[in-house]
Amino acid sequence: MKLRVAVIFGGRTGEHEVSLRSAQAILNAMDPARYEKLEYFIDRQGKWSPHPILPEPGAHPDIDVVFPVLHGTFGEDGTVQGLLELADLPYVGAGVLGSAVSMDKDMMKRVCRERDLPVVEYLSFHRGQADPQAICGRLPFPVFVKPANLGSSVGISKASNCVELEAALALAAQFDYKIIVERGIDGRELECSVLGNETPIASLPCEILPSRAFYDYEDKYLLDLARTVVPADLPPETTAEVRRLALECYRAVECEGMARVDFLLESATGKLYLNEINTIPGFTSISMYPKMWEHSGIGFSALIDRLIELALSRQERKKATRFAR
Ligand SMILES: Nc1ncnc2c1ncn2[C@@H]1O[C@H](COP(=O)(O)OP(=O)(O)O)[C@@H](O)[C@H]1O
Ligand SMILES: [Mg+2]
Repeated sequence: MKLRVAVIFGGRTGEHEVSLRSAQAILNAMDPARYEKLEYFIDRQGKWSPHPILPEPGAHPDIDVVFPVLHGTFGEDGTVQGLLELADLPYVGAGVLGSAVSMDKDMMKRVCRERDLPVVEYLSFHRGQADPQAICGRLPFPVFVKPANLGSSVGISKASNCVELEAALALAAQFDYKIIVERGIDGRELECSVLGNETPIASLPCEILPSRAFYDYEDKYLLDLARTVVPADLPPETTAEVRRLALECYRAVECEGMARVDFLLESATGKLYLNEINTIPGFTSISMYPKMWEHSGIGFSALIDRLIELALSRQERKKATRFAR
């Protein structure tokens, strides 16, 4: 019998378009002989079609497993994962905790720091609390100002002086109640794909060569000028260190299923910094998560098969847990 897979895509965020493209690539790659594909579309207002997933166990006897392909808020942040937990449906990717911690750039760094993993120096503030004058001088310029919970570089700016910092803080504050200010790293951007539950594996890393001052929204999705190199041209010991740190970060945030872990490699010091972890990375035909696996010997369709297996095996594991006396 075919496995019935519900793919959820779209969503109420700036990453709606990317989600559509990721979901299309995933649906195309799913072997029709093995899977029955069920499409759950969420529009920009948050309305589901043909109908929403209900939070009641047993409400969806027609679904065997769910593949949430929602990037960013209301999808990658633990919210949809919470819904699927309530519904008692197996799903691809990180659980509620791993999703929420990974989404929040402040929490992710705190959890990594607790394990002595290298994260860049930063400050965090709540909206209205960030006084540009007070921040000036606490970190060297340039700094990166970011909404704590977002993706695709939305609301992120690079500030090179106090005036730019003020504008950057105002912009970031529109997108989140929590804002972070980080020391800017002059160097290279690397990414590494991770796959697995209890025993995750890391792919060969890749390098991103942005075409602009940094890898911003235009560069990611519109300009098509950023270059990528897979596998990244690195000394073997750096490649090994990227893979090791990617796995350490994955475990630290208690991720499962998959994640793309992103790094900054500082030119002046040769030091690697963990930048962020994405629990539902892009899955378009040109996205780096599947591309890194391809170069590491796991093709797109095989990757989808593996992710679904991992979702089902986590559900099996859950059966050993009692939820009441
Ligand atoms: N501390 C930093 N130093 C240098 N560049 C940075 C720093 N933080 C972010 N960037 C640049 O901004 C881009 C987006 O930041 P990132 O933290 O990855 O946010 P997002 O979740 O939106 O992808 C990065 O890909 C990188 O080009
Ligand atoms: Mg990023």
